[in-house]
Amino acid sequence: TQRTLVLLKPDAVRRALVGEIIGRIERKAGWSITALELRTLDEGTLEQHYGEHKGRPFYEPLIEFMASGPVVALVVEGERVIEGVRALAGPTDPIAAAPGSIRGDFGTIVRENLIHASDSEESAIRELKLFFPEH
Ligand code: GTP
Ligand code: MG
Repeated sequence: TQRTLVLLKPDAVRRALVGEIIGRIERKAGWSITALELRTLDEGTLEQHYGEHKGRPFYEPLIEFMASGPVVALVVEGERVIEGVRALAGPTDPIAAAPGSIRGDFGTIVRENLIHASDSEESAIRELKLFFPEH
């Protein structure tokens, strides 16, 4: 069984899509949410979280956007959740994301793509330590 870090980004919170998105995760067989918190992220946390993208043209606006309002951070546990939440989310560009996926159903803007989910076991371990060190 796996654990992954999920962030419902500030656009999801502002647009009142938190229940909708969490509902999709919650309904997957055998998965459970084991931590959940509304919090506003500081730039230090975001720089660590998105460090791999530092220097890219979208990096600064991404950090600014992610600090622009509260996110919902959650830990999800269960069978193949790392791959599974990424599949529920859809690809990074919401226009390329298929209808039925979270980004495909609700997004249009690459930056404001509603949800983050860890992309590998290594990322999940690193991100869970960063967001839920007590967990
Ligand atoms: P996260 O779960 O947020 O990490 O998204 P991801 O893994 O699907 O994408 P990636 O890690 O490559 O990029 C992180 C975030 O940066 C994306 O979710 C987008 O919000 C933003 N981003 C990535 N690539 C681009 C881009 O080419 N243009 C813009 N404007 N934003 C981008
Ligand atoms: Mg990523």
